[in-house]
Amino acid sequence: METEFLLQILYFTFVTLPLATTSNHRIKPMNQWKRSSIYALSISDLQNLENLELTLVQVLTQGFLTSNKFPIGSKIREHVHRYLEDYYESNGYIDTKDGIGKMDFRIALNPICAYRLIWRIKFLLQDVIFHNQFFRHFGSVSRRISYFFKQYCWPSMDDLESLAEKILRIQYVYDLPVEQLAKGWISTLHTNCTLKSVHCYEIFKVAAKTEQFTSAIEWAELAKEIAVTDKMSSPVFLAFSLWNAIEKHNQEFEDDMKLELEPLFFDRNISHVPYDSKNATKIRNIQDDEFKE
Ligand SMILES: *[C@@H]1O[C@H](CO)[C@@H](O)[C@H](O)[C@H]1NC(C)=O
Ligand SMILES: *[C@@H]1O[C@H](CO)[C@@H](O)[C@H](O)[C@H]1NC(C)=O
Ligand SMILES: *[C@@H]1O[C@H](CO)[C@@H](O)[C@H](O)[C@H]1NC(C)=O
Repeated sequence: METEFLLQILYFTFVTLPLATTSNHRIKPMNQWKRSSIYALSISDLQNLENLELTLVQVLTQGFLTSNKFPIGSKIREHVHRYLEDYYESNGYIDTKDGIGKMDFRIALNPICAYRLIWRIKFLLQDVIFHNQFFRHFGSVSRRISYFFKQYCWPSMDDLESLAEKILRIQYVYDLPVEQLAKGWISTLHTNCTLKSVHCYEIFKVAAKTEQFTSAIEWAELAKEIAVTDKMSSPVFLAFSLWNAIEKHNQEFEDDMKLELEPLFFDRNISHVPYDSKNATKIRNIQDDEFKE
């Protein structure tokens, strides 16, 4: 599994990207390639981003704990806090030192960790570094970050969607339970990265958009469950999303020709009783079993 994933990444890095270079005749800065999801496709870009973040986290942590650069009660302190909290929490580190030396392949390779990283940079980091207080106190770091993103461009929604698709593909191919994925487990690639309700909801949206009915139901159900504890998403809204995902599945489901359906369905209509889908079988698995016989 690791090998295949690695190959997939290598394919994107070494086959897709050089094509982009050839058509441009010579190497141009990344942002002129018009690639909308660079981080989802290139392991080395992802690692560079991770490296940048590590430096930044050290600077911010120090500023947060030991100086008056982020005054208590200020907006900037709130942004920095949210960002750091997400960083430490998603990596399972107790303190920054634990993070150092952990810059191994696994983090960037694991799409769950990559998803958290891109999400955090996109939604939490911008608030920090575009704040004028940040520029005033951390001019050189601020310039370094601006330079980085001038070269590589900011993570986009396309990055997040591509990563979500990757997670969904892995889930489908290896038939992994969503709960396991949300805990950062992908086969032998075990990390401490976890997903929160907002991330599960985003993955649900991609599954729904691409008509992966079983996955959509599973991710919506998990988002709803996690939201009870993390309070990052509205449970009512998630219940509504789940209801919709189930209705959509049932509308497309056809009992009399279920074995001819695409393997993205359960083998029966799903009721709105919580976790009913857990008792249904995925057509994917029925077809798999028939194939094995
Ligand atoms: C997970 O977190 C624990 C506790 O912080 C740490 O000891 C361990 O090395 C981490 N594992 C990985 C794979 O990062
Ligand atoms: C499944 O649900 C759909 C929509 O709710 C309904 O039209 C259909 O008759 C149901 N099929 C079965 C086999 O119950
Ligand atoms: C799933 O099946 C088990 C065992 O048959 C049953 O006890 C449970 O109530 C079922 N759950 C749902 C949500 O239908």
